[in-house]
Amino acid sequence: MESSLDAAPAAVPLLTSGAGGGRHAGAAIDVAHERARTPGATVAHHFNAAGSALPSQSVVQAVVDHLRLEERHGGYEAAHQVADRIEAVYQDAARLVGADPAEIALFDSASTGLRTIVEALRLGAGQRLLVSRSTYVSHALHLMSLGREHDVEVVVVPNSASGAIDLQALDSELAGGGPAIVCVAHIPTSSGLVEPVTEIGALARRHGARYVLDATQSVGQVHLDVAAIGCDAMVTTGRKFLRAPRGTGFAFIGREIAGSLAPTAPDVRGAVWTSARDWELKDSARRFETWEASIAGRIGLGVALGEALALGTGQIETHLVQTAAAVREALVVVPGVTVQDPPSSPSAIITFTVEGLPARRVNELLAQHGLRTVSVPASHAQWDLGARGVDAVVRASLHVYNDETDTAALVEAVAGIADSAEARAV
Ligand SMILES: Cc1ncc(COP(=O)(O)O)c(C=O)c1O
Repeated sequence: MESSLDAAPAAVPLLTSGAGGGRHAGAAIDVAHERARTPGATVAHHFNAAGSALPSQSVVQAVVDHLRLEERHGGYEAAHQVADRIEAVYQDAARLVGADPAEIALFDSASTGLRTIVEALRLGAGQRLLVSRSTYVSHALHLMSLGREHDVEVVVVPNSASGAIDLQALDSELAGGGPAIVCVAHIPTSSGLVEPVTEIGALARRHGARYVLDATQSVGQVHLDVAAIGCDAMVTTGRKFLRAPRGTGFAFIGREIAGSLAPTAPDVRGAVWTSARDWELKDSARRFETWEASIAGRIGLGVALGEALALGTGQIETHLVQTAAAVREALVVVPGVTVQDPPSSPSAIITFTVEGLPARRVNELLAQHGLRTVSVPASHAQWDLGARGVDAVVRASLHVYNDETDTAALVEAVAGIADSAEARAV
């Protein structure tokens, strides 16, 4: 769909500026300005930041410019010309998450980052992987598969009534077994839940466990400081709340792991082949990187990181959390609609179901109204949706370019679908 959407009456009371409070706080979010520099904002009501957000014009322009440079000079020569800008990506990624640039590694996705780090931890019999119910599908599949191969127990820690990981249960698990690795998604794919990541970090430290945080849905959405959280490593992606190009991502790999653990597959990017039978690894997180990468994508990632830093993660978080809360409040009173987010959900991801209609169908109908949402099936979140007995949810995830026109259109369309003959026929 390529049509512009006219303003609809605002049904949801929305705040267009945050109240501040983030440690990187900039000016209040100016939604009109964000929309003006985001061409996709007027093409549809885009509520899929948790899938892949709309990039700004500057991000896209930077990618295109670099591809043009490659066209004229060749990929390696073009990369040489932008070496300083690529170094700046490490600096800005580190600044955004409170790390040192030597602790940043660039990857093509969060999953590649997580896989590389967990495999470097070299699981062995007797070890235990303690995971949250919020664990992402690909990570769960990878961890279960490692568990089978290495005789490592994968323990899914139960949730408390808030819907977040039960800290007491985690404490008991950590106290009860052998060496453990804790793996948690800060914000999952399947709901607006925000896990208590700092409390988890304190428990992991107290029991001497390693702590790998999946911050794929949180970097760019909420203020995040890896030192305050106390994780050993953290992975994230570019395309979601950071609004960077697809095929980009980065990880924080704390000094201790970065300096002592070896990647299972050393690569010419992170290692020097020093003699016929020997090699040396770089003394930084870059030892985990691979040579080949989309330099254009990384240039775009750099621009997106700069934009997030300029807005301020505290301001973005305040704005998104307030806006999502207003949408939830509006949806919760619509007859036939159930907001499926657990109580502890101060995030920009909203999940719901409509009585009488499968989530996929609701998603299709929303698309007919120019609304971009997704349906998340239980097969993407067995430890969460599966365990809650929910087949699938509709997920609407917003960003700073969503205005009252968008949110009003969402609530109005969902209400219409819930009240339709199709929904009521069942
Ligand atoms: C919570 C969470 N973790 C990890 C991922 C995987 O990210 P990537 O596709 O960049 O590997 C996703 C993707 O949706 C996610 O939602």
